[in-house]
Amino acid sequence: MELQFIGHSAFYLETEKAGILIDPFISQNPISKFDPKSKVTDILVTHGHSDHLGDAIPISKQTGATITAIFELANYCAKCGAKVQAVNIGGKIPFEWGRARFFSATHSSSTPDGAYAGCATSILMEINGMKIFHAGDTGLHQEMKTIGEIYKPDIAILPVGNFYTMGVKEAAIAAQWLGAKKIIPMHYNTFDLIKADIKKLKSFLPKNIECITLEPGQKIGFY
Ligand code: NI
Ligand code: MN
Repeated sequence: MELQFIGHSAFYLETEKAGILIDPFISQNPISKFDPKSKVTDILVTHGHSDHLGDAIPISKQTGATITAIFELANYCAKCGAKVQAVNIGGKIPFEWGRARFFSATHSSSTPDGAYAGCATSILMEINGMKIFHAGDTGLHQEMKTIGEIYKPDIAILPVGNFYTMGVKEAAIAAQWLGAKKIIPMHYNTFDLIKADIKKLKSFLPKNIECITLEPGQKIGFY
């Protein structure tokens, strides 16, 4: 299994069976790096903002990949011609490659035309026994403790850019509440407004939590 950071909050997770795109903000993303030949089978979207929904709809139309998102956002994507799977908070969603659960993030969400897009979400994916938590856009919130207690994510991908989401200090707390041993920072340095100091993030983290910083296009393998 290989995880590629595309840039901003966009990731591509490749397994033997699947190619999973998360928050595919690619064509309008000033820092994105993504190989268009990648075999996308699934698209997971945390919320409707354009820097997360991104190219999900055109990629779904091109590849036939299914967009899985919260009910209201999935319905919007379906109206735009994408193949969708509408989900909601807390349930186990089976996939060929494993399973996922959507949790509420503390953030807003709307579709590109300004309509209500349901709850903004964080997504926990379980693949080959590895639990990867993609927080989406969120502020720090107490439910992260519960997610840590019950689901024990191995890796937490956390926004650190401040202004629209948590900053580095809160992300270091979130990492501890989630109980993740590894974190990957995201949603920073894409624009000036969300500049973050990763050295500071590392200084706030306890020694038993590793911070993996990925450059756009960079991949890491999990075996
Ligand atoms: Ni957002
Ligand atoms: Mn965002």
